[in-house]
Order: sequence, then structure tokens, then C-alpha cells
Amino acid sequence: MSDTDHGPLIPRNRDAHPPAYDIDYKTSVPRSPRWSLLSMESTPSEETGPRFGHSLLGEWDNNLIMNWTRGKSPAVGERILVHGRVLDENGRPVPDTLVEIWQANAGGRYRHKKDTYFAPLDPNFGGCGRTITDENGYYEFLTIRPGAYPWPNRANDWRPMHIHFSIFGHSFGQRLISQMYFEGDPLINHCPIAATIKDRSQLDTLVAPLDFSKSRPLDFLAYKFDIVLRGRRQTMFENKLEGM
Ligand SMILES: [Fe+2]
Repeated sequence: MSDTDHGPLIPRNRDAHPPAYDIDYKTSVPRSPRWSLLSMESTPSEETGPRFGHSLLGEWDNNLIMNWTRGKSPAVGERILVHGRVLDENGRPVPDTLVEIWQANAGGRYRHKKDTYFAPLDPNFGGCGRTITDENGYYEFLTIRPGAYPWPNRANDWRPMHIHFSIFGHSFGQRLISQMYFEGDPLINHCPIAATIKDRSQLDTLVAPLDFSKSRPLDFLAYKFDIVLRGRRQTMFENKLEGM
């Protein structure tokens, strides 16, 4: 752990994040706080967090095509690589941090008892994966392209193709849970959850572009998704330029 891992966190830019309550996203009504938020300085409770080592990982953990069957049979679907870097707001890579993903199968169905969508379960697909970023903050997952699915909200709402992400960061105050969308998906413009992000340029940061530089011929396409966690307040010193 480096000495830059401690210290006060930069406050969130509330204008860039979706509001907790949005009338077009029905479940945000019971989930959102009824009282206005209080602003508090961060303390060691927020400025520190657990570290996860590479020994935690299993052989197939970042390969959702094969991890449900432990390498025996591949999942059904369009094979894709999702990769990118985890950075903080100062542009520094966040190494050795746990990145977890979960997603629907190729037909748009989750392996969850409350998911009763018509699309069948894939016996070879679980839908969860995890990895730990390398020294440059880099991560990658091999998976299948998730299907879009309908959900009960307004009369006919559909979720665009998406992958859920959880990134621990180096402290509890950096923890980020978000979603990745796919470049060119027309459903992004019709999704009430995506629409809770009012600034289009902020929503675009959740849309991963097709990345032919990491695509493998005759095997898979790639999508690049960089993730920015909260940074720490730092004083700029002339003798400490690295990473700023
Ligand atoms: Fe989802």
C-alpha cells in the first residue's frame, strides 16, 4: 500500500451522478432517502478498506464463458472481451483492486430465482465473474454479450444490453457500483435508468466503444471500458509530479 492510499477523498460531483429519486424509475421512489443529505468530512472509516490478493482468484474467475462449468462447456452467445483500466480522479491507476461483474445471459435472463423472463437459462452460464487489477490498474473479462430484457416499470420498458460492475477501490469511500452499456445500442436512448443521468456526456462514459485493437480474429470482439473512482485531495509538489 502506498502513502497515497490514505487521506481525505474528493467530494462526489452530485451533478454528474444520477439523483437518488427519479419519477420515471419507479423503484427509486421507495429506495431514495426522504431527508436531505448531510455533508461530512471523510474519516478513516471511509479512507481505508479491505485489500484482496490474487490468491483469492480461481482459474476461471474472469472468464464467464467457461467459469460456470469450470472449463468443461462454453456458454451460448456472442463472445466478447471487456477490458479497461481503473483510475482515480487524479488519473492514477488503481492497482490490486477487486472488480466484480454480473450480467444476464445471451437471451436476457439472469440466473436468479426472481427472474421469470421467458428466455431460457443457459446451463453453461452463471453470469458472475471477478478479477483484480494489475499494477497499471488494468482488468479484463471474457464473456458473452448479454441480451436486452424487459422489466416492469412503465408499460413497455427494456434494459439495454448491460453489464453490472462493482469496484472496491482502496477504501470504502471509493467503492463504485455501476453499469456498462454497449456502443450503438438503440435501447440506451429509451431506458429510464440510463435517463436518470441527465448529462449526456456523463452517460457516454458508461457506454463502452467497440475496440478492434483488442479483438482477436476469428474469436471475439472487444469493448473498452475505463472506470474512474474517487480520488484523494493532494497537494501538488514540484518534486512529486508522477501520476498527477
Ligand atoms: Fe441488469
